Amino acid sequence: MAILPIITVPDPILKTVSAPVEVVDDDLRALMDDMLETMYAAPGIGLAAIQVGKPLRLLVMDLAEEDADPDPQYYINPQITWTSDELTTYNEGCLSVPEQYADIDRPSECKLTYLDYDGKEQALHATGLFATCIQHEMDHLNGIVFIDYLSTLKKNMAVRKVKKLVKEG
Ligand code: NI
Repeated sequence: MAILPIITVPDPILKTVSAPVEVVDDDLRALMDDMLETMYAAPGIGLAAIQVGKPLRLLVMDLAEEDADPDPQYYINPQITWTSDELTTYNEGCLSVPEQYADIDRPSECKLTYLDYDGKEQALHATGLFATCIQHEMDHLNGIVFIDYLSTLKKNMAVRKVKKLVKEG
């Protein structure tokens, strides 16, 4: 396994619309393992493939509490099939926008279909932090970062702060 460099805003790579995964094979699983290791090292709770420069519809997450056992989750070609009308506000952050946070409204619940680590079709109904996180990660697959929902002023301010952070290393 390997820790991969995480791409940060305003890198245009993050605006890429990722392509569906065609085959779930050992090469793809190796990438998912690397993504998970990269996410844990950051540390973060979710990571989309485009954040490590791979334009594939693929993401990893782990929402386990800090003192609980790891709970790695892999979502390949995820598709949202339903969202609740009710919205929830969550103070979101992103490994591609380090140290910046903002309140974002999203549907409180959603249903999705996806392929798992073994390429098997799965479906689930997400609520709570899980629903927020999966929608945030799925936005990355469509080239959207959470600061895109902010005013231009706030977005530019966040980007400037990230550029400064990256420059300072
Ligand atoms: Ni993110």
